[in-house]
Amino acid sequence: SRAALRPCTSRHLVGRSYSSTESRPERKVAILGAAVGIGQPLALLLKLNPLISSLSLYDKANTPGVAADVSHINSRAQVARYAGEEQLVEALDGSDVVIIPARFPRKPGMTRDDLFKINAGIVKSLCTAIAKYCPNALVNMIRNPVNSTVPIAAEVFKKAGTFDERKLFGVTTLDVVRAKTFYAGKVKVLVAEVNVPVVGGRAGITILPIFSQASPKSSNLSDDDIKALTKRTRDGGTEVVEAKAGMGSATLSMAYAGVVFADACLEGVNGVPDIVECSFVQSSITDLPFFASKARLGKNGVEEVFGLGPLSDYEQHYNRVLKASSRSLKLL
Ligand code: LMR
Repeated sequence: SRAALRPCTSRHLVGRSYSSTESRPERKVAILGAAVGIGQPLALLLKLNPLISSLSLYDKANTPGVAADVSHINSRAQVARYAGEEQLVEALDGSDVVIIPARFPRKPGMTRDDLFKINAGIVKSLCTAIAKYCPNALVNMIRNPVNSTVPIAAEVFKKAGTFDERKLFGVTTLDVVRAKTFYAGKVKVLVAEVNVPVVGGRAGITILPIFSQASPKSSNLSDDDIKALTKRTRDGGTEVVEAKAGMGSATLSMAYAGVVFADACLEGVNGVPDIVECSFVQSSITDLPFFASKARLGKNGVEEVFGLGPLSDYEQHYNRVLKASSRSLKLL
């Protein structure tokens, strides 16, 4: 089977004129946390996606302003706003894809794990609502620590009797986006043509970009270059946290990554063949219960999880370190 990652990042990302004669299925996407941080640019970019007919913006408060603003854009999606828990049912009802972005950024010196206390409970209650009101939706988890929030979501869905491992995703696309950008910059190739699988998890050393499988291939990357590229990809989030100096973490590039992944989910749901993206999913390709790797997306979510393929010595070493540390740190 084909396991080529999509060469271009998103065919539907940039709004094109949308002809009313083009028939596309109705698709509803909900953002849980739409008013701040990642949520606002995510709402903007999703509004431009012609695959979406209904865009549901939910947050604790402040959704009216964001929704009014974004709703004036002349693209297909109808925007609806919901605020407060009592409106969660309507916000979720009939959703094909539910995206859970972060609301609380980490500060310099914090790791993603430091967000566990704040986010674990919120994820639990949002997923309890998803299990009740849209149990068939594909869930795109962005909220950190993804290595932990995805297993939490799985447990909530299992308890509710709605768990379908094909429909729960940790969004790791920002790691792929970063790996592509940094590789293209180093190798001096057109970034739009670059593909780099990123496997493992969504924090620190659990992020393993497989530069030995990058395309276009480069013969003049030294081991040190690969180490530096790997480190920069792993530390990408921290690079932004430090540059923002207490004002937050990545929101713009994360929103971009979120729409690339949501677009892939929608294409899969719509029956477009051979949609392959890296994602943190339930997996049996290693002995870890959840693992990011290439996955083919279809009408019901994950159709196939691809193995790691050939790894360089360096990548094999890190794959072993990753597994060992994931177990001892209980990251997964
Ligand atoms: C990122 O990768 O930028 C996000 O996960 C945010 C963070 O805290 O690093």
